[in-house]
Amino acid sequence: MKKDEHIAKTLISEEEISKKVKELASQISNDLKDKENIPCIIGLLKGSFIFIADLARYIDVPVEIDFMIVSSYGNNKIGSEIKILKDVDIPLTGRDVIIVEDIIDTGYTLEKICEVLQTRNVASLKICTLLNKPSRRKVDIKIDYNGFDIEDEFVVGYGIDYAQKYRNLPYIGVVK
Ligand code: IMP
Ligand code: MG
Repeated sequence: MKKDEHIAKTLISEEEISKKVKELASQISNDLKDKENIPCIIGLLKGSFIFIADLARYIDVPVEIDFMIVSSYGNNKIGSEIKILKDVDIPLTGRDVIIVEDIIDTGYTLEKICEVLQTRNVASLKICTLLNKPSRRKVDIKIDYNGFDIEDEFVVGYGIDYAQKYRNLPYIGVVK
């Protein structure tokens, strides 16, 4: 069986992703240059693992990289909660922090993560996402670095899964 067996179409190609990742990395590098404290890039696992790996190697200023794992309960409901399964290991006080997400849908997950990280006296907190579904948004989220706006379709690939599968596709596709 091929890994793209159940993929109906390619939504964003490897080439388009690669071009966008370099653009985002260049914006981020520009914004992070000349910082007093070394900035932190925080990837939200598992979905962002390929994105952050590609992004990080094109960021041309010093950064520290860490990861968080959160699980969300009762998404799509007001008052949905997240549980932090893995927190960052590095101190964030006084530092410029960028959260790297694979896809922003309702916005609940990032709203909660931002709430948590804001309590840690960061110098600044910004959001970078590869994909954004604006039509699905339930809470206001300011995205500082946005890869692509997409329609309300369920996508997989480039780290993003459906029931843990398809993360290893090199492009963003739509499942049949
Ligand atoms: P939010 O809290 O509704 O913004 O949820 C964002 C999370 O939902 C993402 O990090 C993904 O894990 C998941 N998600 C949203 N849309 C998709 C999709 O089209 N494919 C796979 N996962 C998705
Ligand atoms: Mg995710």
